[in-house]
Amino acid sequence: MRFSYVQIGAKDIDKLTAFYEKVCDFKKTDDKKWLNGQDGVVMEAPGFSSDSKVLFGFVKSDKGEARKINDRGYAHICFETVDMKGAISRLKKYGGSFQSTMDNPLKAPCVYCKDIEGNIVEFHIPFPSKDASIGKTLTSLLGLKKDKGIRNETGNTDLKFIHVNIITEDWRGLCDHFNTMFGSEDTGKIKDHSGSFKEGVIGVPGVHVIGKHILLPGFYLSYPTVEIFEYSIKGKDTVPQLDEIGLSAIGFKSDDLDKDKDIIIKNGGAFVKDLGEGSLLMKDKQGDLVILMK
Ligand SMILES: [Fe+2]
Repeated sequence: MRFSYVQIGAKDIDKLTAFYEKVCDFKKTDDKKWLNGQDGVVMEAPGFSSDSKVLFGFVKSDKGEARKINDRGYAHICFETVDMKGAISRLKKYGGSFQSTMDNPLKAPCVYCKDIEGNIVEFHIPFPSKDASIGKTLTSLLGLKKDKGIRNETGNTDLKFIHVNIITEDWRGLCDHFNTMFGSEDTGKIKDHSGSFKEGVIGVPGVHVIGKHILLPGFYLSYPTVEIFEYSIKGKDTVPQLDEIGLSAIGFKSDDLDKDKDIIIKNGGAFVKDLGEGSLLMKDKQGDLVILMK
């Protein structure tokens, strides 16, 4: 299996895709396979080479509402950038807003925002890892001290889509479940967020968040990942459905649909339905929707 896709239900596809084009460097593609007949637009996320694309499908929806930061299931997406000020000023210019409640989000190395439909979008600087040097981290920190971002309009940047976040009641259990289902592994340290600074970044007073990242199959660098978080202050306890507004599913390319379907079922997931044209809708053990595509 190779991680390839994220689906977002959109009230207004044209406006939302224009937002992601201008703010997050998404590029429209003609590749409609992942939509399985749904009315929508597919875009390529920034930061990947042409042979390892990550696609986002924006599909028409008028059901439900955008996920809150602590709602169960897929809850936010995250981008890494050395140019936080540029990213945040584009976000503000094109109608986004802040989830974070700290005094000066323009000086923070990590900020939670909302797109024009209320979906949570995180931006942070590159933290040292096997594919981001400490030099990049320092450049980003210096950029936060400047008055303006490196750029304010779209162009060639180093913006990268780096994770999709899932909220759960049992972070360790869901990490283990994903690792065995997808042949992935944990990466990085345990995230344990509490205290007034982190509460300001998350935008939920008094919250304590714990969890970890797991590497998604098909990539050899330290992204993209699934970030699995457990919140002490709970949101909605149901996971999003495929026809709802907001983040609703992730997708994997599969060389052997029957084999991968069996792996998911044997690990506590389930088959939901055949989407046709070599595509299966599955769910993990807490019900998060997963698309398998031949
Ligand atoms: Fe995140």
